[in-house]
Amino acid sequence: MSATSSRDPIEPLLVQIGRELARRGPHLRLLRQLLLLLDRLEDSRLDQELLLLLQELPAETLEPELAQRLRLQLQRLLPDLNSSLQPYASWLSALLPDQMPFQAWFQDSLFKLLMSRCYVMNPVLEQKLTSLRRKILLGQVAAEPEMLSLLSQQCQLNGFVWAISPEEKQVLDTLSAEPEQTQLLACYQPLQDLSSKAEIPSLTPIPEQDPCYRFYSESPYPRWLAPERLALESLPDQLQALFNLSIAEPQHVLVAGCGTGQQLAQLALQLPQAQLTGIDLSLSALEYAQTSLSQHQLKAELFQADLLALDHWEQRFDLISCGGVLHHLADPLAGLKVLTGLLKPNGLLKLGVYSHRARSPIWALREACGITGQESPEEVRAIRAQLLTDPGEAAHWLRGTYDFYTLETCRDLLFHPREQAFYLPDLGPWLAECNLELIGPELWQPSFYKLFAQAFPHLPYSDLQAWDQLEAQYPSLFAGLMVLWLRPRAKQPAELQQTDDWTRQHFWL
Ligand SMILES: C[S@@+](CC[C@H](N)C(=O)[O-])C[C@H]1O[C@@H](n2cnc3c(N)ncnc32)[C@H](O)[C@@H]1O
Repeated sequence: MSATSSRDPIEPLLVQIGRELARRGPHLRLLRQLLLLLDRLEDSRLDQELLLLLQELPAETLEPELAQRLRLQLQRLLPDLNSSLQPYASWLSALLPDQMPFQAWFQDSLFKLLMSRCYVMNPVLEQKLTSLRRKILLGQVAAEPEMLSLLSQQCQLNGFVWAISPEEKQVLDTLSAEPEQTQLLACYQPLQDLSSKAEIPSLTPIPEQDPCYRFYSESPYPRWLAPERLALESLPDQLQALFNLSIAEPQHVLVAGCGTGQQLAQLALQLPQAQLTGIDLSLSALEYAQTSLSQHQLKAELFQADLLALDHWEQRFDLISCGGVLHHLADPLAGLKVLTGLLKPNGLLKLGVYSHRARSPIWALREACGITGQESPEEVRAIRAQLLTDPGEAAHWLRGTYDFYTLETCRDLLFHPREQAFYLPDLGPWLAECNLELIGPELWQPSFYKLFAQAFPHLPYSDLQAWDQLEAQYPSLFAGLMVLWLRPRAKQPAELQQTDDWTRQHFWL
């Protein structure tokens, strides 16, 4: 719970009950108690921890009466919540009554909240809304201004990822930019360029022919709305808890390939005293980062740069975070060498790269859909529309990911022109060449650490082969990204001895 909320004695109780519910599932008595307490909560100090627990409840299985009461409370409490609702989007939309006529949706405050503050992550709702938008454009349904306004807000949020039928295209081609048509057009295309045009300096020449440069200039990644202020431990506490590693709070931090700045925003909240720097190839991503960071009163210094050309940069960092970048480079090892060179001697590198096993279902889907990585936004929308209803297991899994639901993130997920993925032992020789060692992986599911300890009670978290064996058994171990904490390898006593010998020989000591 947040520090400000501790004044209300109801809240610790709420959290306790929420935790119990998360453990036991939709337990009726507990749920009733929870609702009674929510009734008494006076303002919107419902914080993220509680929401996180609530969303563990499978909303579809709640009794209609309880679901309705929960909805009413959320409608009252959520609007003022000063943080991202996106993590709860799928759960919140499952709370919407199934059979509500569409006119009633637009009177419903939970629905309005979803449409204006999250991108919808629910295939059924998306299909209904896409069909409604089509009917409005074709003149088959009359739209109230509020309906159009919410539809256009939602489409701006999702980067216009919804499918457009050939009949709609025909009508859109004839639609003029007259003021009365503007709102309708805004459901299909951006009306103005919202990116900042402030100067972002360049540090290196930019390889404009590189497929990554072109891809991310057109499709800045990721689309994000607000930083997640979720239980942000300090980094030293996090590393202490994960790896029993003591570090001082990093002062100089680089996010290499920062994209639109979401990682910078999280780090700015987690390390409020640190000086943050972000570099990226894509100017449009950096402009997005600049606008969004300043909207949230967060600070970072941004530069356009090619990571591969930063080997002469004189800056050094206590912490470098580089997530989702190296596997898109033509030469990932060269990128790793540059990053290592930018670390201070005791610096830490947090590296996120694709896992071969976790990525395999995506590659199978790409093959099945004939995806080459050269698709236009129209082609992406059309292929995605098929996947929205595809009954196969892989498509079902895809629909459970965040990235499926906005245009830019969906392109990154499925339509990238260049990517590779790794088995952990593949990285061993690279780490050795860069004189880096693995501290351990950061896992999305904490229970995997227990599985590791059970399977390999005598091995350290730095053992690449052991993690690889565990991943073979649990292929979702590194779902999304394989996130590795690395540091420069400490010199072994034998090496120190060698260095001493060399020094003695060369300096006649
Ligand atoms: C998948 S996005 C990851 C963005 C960010 N790290 C995140 O996870 O939110 C990959 C980013 O790497 C950037 N990138 C790719 N090649 C690069 C290079 N050679 N130098 C700098 N940035 C690069 C892209 O422009 C893109 O913004």
